[in-house]
Amino acid sequence: MGLDDVSVKPHEQLAAVLADDMEAVNALIAGRMASEHAPRIPEVTTHLVGAGGKRLRPMLTLATARMCGYGGDDHVRLAATVEFIHTATLLHDDVVDESAQRRGRPTANLLWDNKSSVLVGDYLFARAFQLMVETGSLRVLDILSNAAATIAEGEVLQLTAAQNLTTTEAIYLQVVRGKTAALFSAATEVGGVVAGVAEEQVRALHTYGDALGIAFQIVDDLLDYGGDAEATGKNVGDDFRERKLTLPVIKAVALADAEERAFWTRVIEKGKQEDGDLEHALALLTKHGTMEATRIEALNWAALAKDALGVLPNHPIREMLNDLADYVVARIN
Ligand code: IPE
Ligand code: IPE
Ligand code: MG
Ligand code: MG
Repeated sequence: MGLDDVSVKPHEQLAAVLADDMEAVNALIAGRMASEHAPRIPEVTTHLVGAGGKRLRPMLTLATARMCGYGGDDHVRLAATVEFIHTATLLHDDVVDESAQRRGRPTANLLWDNKSSVLVGDYLFARAFQLMVETGSLRVLDILSNAAATIAEGEVLQLTAAQNLTTTEAIYLQVVRGKTAALFSAATEVGGVVAGVAEEQVRALHTYGDALGIAFQIVDDLLDYGGDAEATGKNVGDDFRERKLTLPVIKAVALADAEERAFWTRVIEKGKQEDGDLEHALALLTKHGTMEATRIEALNWAALAKDALGVLPNHPIREMLNDLADYVVARIN
């Protein structure tokens, strides 16, 4: 695959440029996800990690560190830390969301049980913390431990916002910033911190990761209605079934007439869902153009992410990060 081939996706381009580093990250992940004492741990982690995943977040750490001229190897530990935190949150998230499919495979909660997912998730969190301690940097510990707390807050906030038709776009943004963007921004920020760049650049890296993460989750929420399970590796309609107020729905509820409002109240607030309701919900999103309006918001966040790159070193990786912002909105999985 040639790097100048326009059909190569930006994250594949980054993966090619960072191939050696990524191989080291994957080796570290494989080494640390095992356990000598509890066989259930490697069973579950091999199932989930073996299914791949895009490795977007560790790539962001490797990419930002390299772009900022870092020459050591702590970025590999940090990238593995970030992916461990991500993997732990996925195990927990699939329990909370009662999801049946992840990365094209049955979820761990389905194959084993909720108990295994919760406990192996806890184990991976702890492994993440051990890894970041090895860098000896209190600053990166601060950034990543804050991110872990913020992710949990975002997931809990979403719990109380779900099934509540009065959920506003501001609350949605707060949820998304917490549950998803916090790890993206921590991933990009620690790349710069480990490289020792100026504070203005650290802030720019944070802004880039935050905006990219928000765009990414908005699109993930779009794919939950308009996506293809084959491509995303997750079931379509999970959010509807879980009665989550995501952006396309919040916008459609705001534009609903009395009859439509009664529909949303029944399916989201009362949770009395019947065959054909998901299709009807989709028709309402289409009628009010809220999928398109949501996509435009994702594009705006991607533009914000790209703007933040201006103060960062002029480096080929910066161009790839720029393209990545476009790609997260255009992606189909
Ligand atoms: C899934 O993230 C969780 C969300 C924030 C939507 P990814 O889509 O990056 O998951 P993998 O790691 O590629 O499976
Ligand atoms: C993912 O949230 C965010 C975290 C894992 C913390 P979602 O529940 O929206 O993501 P998917 O659709 O299950 O990947
Ligand atoms: Mg989920
Ligand atoms: Mg969730």
